Amino acid sequence: MNKLPVIQAEPNAEAEPMQSPLHFAASLSPKRVYIDTFGCQMNIHDSQRMVSLMAGEGYAPTESPEEADLIILNSCSVREKAEQKVRTRAGQMKKIKKANEEVVLAIGGCVASQEGKRLLDRIPHADIVFGPDHLSRLPELVRNVRQERTRHNETRLMGRSTAFTFPKLTKEGPVEVSAFVSVMKGCDKFCTYCIVPYTRGREVSREADEILEEVRVLAERGTKEVVLLGQTVNSYGNRPQDGHMPFSDLLYRVAEVEGIERIRFTSPHPSDFSEAQIQAFAKIDKLCPHMHLPLQSGSTEVLAAMRRDYTREEYLAIVNRLREVAPQVALTTDIIVGFPGETRQAFEDTLSLMREVRFHGAFSFAYSERVGTKALEMSSVPVEERFDRLRELQALQDEITQERLNDAVGQRQTVLIEGLSKKDATRSTGRNGQNRPVHVAGTYEPGTVLQVDIVEAYKHSLLGVQAGTK
Ligand code: SAH
Ligand code: SF4
Ligand code: F3S
Repeated sequence: MNKLPVIQAEPNAEAEPMQSPLHFAASLSPKRVYIDTFGCQMNIHDSQRMVSLMAGEGYAPTESPEEADLIILNSCSVREKAEQKVRTRAGQMKKIKKANEEVVLAIGGCVASQEGKRLLDRIPHADIVFGPDHLSRLPELVRNVRQERTRHNETRLMGRSTAFTFPKLTKEGPVEVSAFVSVMKGCDKFCTYCIVPYTRGREVSREADEILEEVRVLAERGTKEVVLLGQTVNSYGNRPQDGHMPFSDLLYRVAEVEGIERIRFTSPHPSDFSEAQIQAFAKIDKLCPHMHLPLQSGSTEVLAAMRRDYTREEYLAIVNRLREVAPQVALTTDIIVGFPGETRQAFEDTLSLMREVRFHGAFSFAYSERVGTKALEMSSVPVEERFDRLRELQALQDEITQERLNDAVGQRQTVLIEGLSKKDATRSTGRNGQNRPVHVAGTYEPGTVLQVDIVEAYKHSLLGVQAGTK
């Protein structure tokens, strides 16, 4: 089995380019694909699909772009820095293309979706620019480039009415201990700072039968944990014309699949929460005691300017209700600081909410201007001030995170092993139900579920020993 990316490592952040975690047997194949992934879990999942699709064409994954016949850059445009990274990376690929004209360079993801032909014009050595909606066409596009040396721009967003089909799990996929399962695509919220609705298009829920079938196939292959994915995953089935079941019902149905031991979902939107979704944490044993619930700001005024559709009090009401029903649930969040109009007082409202909730972890970002979004027209907070506030907020969160980690010492926890520790081959690594990385003394098969006594807290992870051992 293959080691997975640690999902909670940097959800939604502009992570360092990740080499494909997929290394499956196709070593005899003459062709190779290299992929760099930027951005959120949707992009990681899309990259996994791309690698599987290309495996069907005889391409084996490689970790070296110099060895590749096909180079894919799966881009993110959520913040300026993320966008720059893909441009820099594309620049670095120029010499590889120069050395070997046959190499195909494809740029996918959200920058591709947003820029389309402009990107193809600006990067003359790119052969394909394709948006997330056109992922399934990648093999055909690559074949066209190889046979006819044509260049392609496939970035039209598919509307709700266009028949969007979710890329299917392919036979060639690797066995993963924890696997992503797409349940919806796109976003209809249009938060005023956010580019995603413009790059991923309108929200479309996937047929429940298709989702359940995918979960069954994954379980048969040996997957133990599924992570249901969507930009506002808990708005699944909310549109009456979709004719899908409510998200909470979907959770119960996924839990019925034999062999699946853990269910997670990310990211829910506070406005789409229902009592039934909260109850699910108490009633579904397989549902992990962790929720990533993006806050963005603790100030009701800023939330309104962000068009987040909930107030500080409504956010707190969800947290309090959840803790009443399922006190074991760990909460993590996303926060933006320095949003236009954020006063010192508004920023302090965010800090006070953090002290009140004591999130187990938070991903925090300085507001970044995005072309085409509403917030661009609002009066901005100076960039330096944004970063000063970010440092202040992160120092507070670091303290809380450490306290939360220390609280775990002495506890007995369930850990799903994902592979050997990178730093110490005498240890295995997995995650507890709260999604924290846990290192365990000893070597265990990926997929093993262990009872672990936590003995030490590190900065971002825990150390434990199998219960009953010393
Ligand atoms: N759909 C998810 C978030 C997707 S984007 C949700 O609604 O929660 C991931 C995170 O990036 C967001 O939660 C937000 O905190 C951050 N983000 C998005 N746009 C940003 C911008 N323009 N500047 C800074 N951070 C941003
Ligand atoms: Fe962006 Fe808001 Fe949609 Fe999340 S809910 S993807 S932050 S527009
Ligand atoms: Fe980035 Fe697109 Fe995800 S902008 S955060 S890769 S949806």
